[in-house]
Amino acid sequence: MRIDIITVLPEILESSLNCSILKRAQEKGLVEIYLHNLRDYSADKHRRVDDYPFGGQAGMVLQCEPIDRAISSLKAQREYDEVIYTSPDGETFNQSIANRLSLFQNIIILCGHYKGIDYRLREHLITREISIGDYVLTGGELAAAVMSDAIVRLIPGAIGDEQSALSDSFQDHLLAPPVYTRPAEYRGWTVPEILLSGHEAKIRDWELQQSMERTRRLRPDLL
Ligand code: ADE
Repeated sequence: MRIDIITVLPEILESSLNCSILKRAQEKGLVEIYLHNLRDYSADKHRRVDDYPFGGQAGMVLQCEPIDRAISSLKAQREYDEVIYTSPDGETFNQSIANRLSLFQNIIILCGHYKGIDYRLREHLITREISIGDYVLTGGELAAAVMSDAIVRLIPGAIGDEQSALSDSFQDHLLAPPVYTRPAEYRGWTVPEILLSGHEAKIRDWELQQSMERTRRLRPDLL
């Protein structure tokens, strides 16, 4: 899979995309992630990519031309399954969107900034608009990092124990069961006995009951 991220602030993304699981997935050749500085596509001598909005509102808007150039130059090299724009007014990102995006070959993520991008780009070039939640960030870079992380860890081979991606919270519309590790007793706090019993089937059953109980209590909307 290949993810191309277009942004005015690549430095926000660099560290998060080059550590831990995302770094390893790239080293293993499971995913290629490229950051493109939108200013590199500006025709302006000061590398400007924004301008004042028509209509006189406050704030700045990312212009059509540099974004069109950046997307067109990528599209000239390969086909893209989706050109995603990160925006608080997009559809809300969730595990099933991550699952579907992880199956794609090539995606572009365009990070919004300032007041957003010229609306004509949304009408003509963007194929999908995604928000990571009902709050407003200063830009779409953190949203792009969140989405990339959630997508890449689903690519087979990206995480050591593939079972563990399948047993994540949300993967089956249930929250994950509680987990414990050694020691079995700490400050008098004990681990549920069933987990120490070695009885595989009973343990799986207990985990399912716990998942259902936690989902009912904490996220009944998922059921
Ligand atoms: N840009 C600003 N806020 C955002 C959000 N909540 N999701 C995605 N992109 C954003």
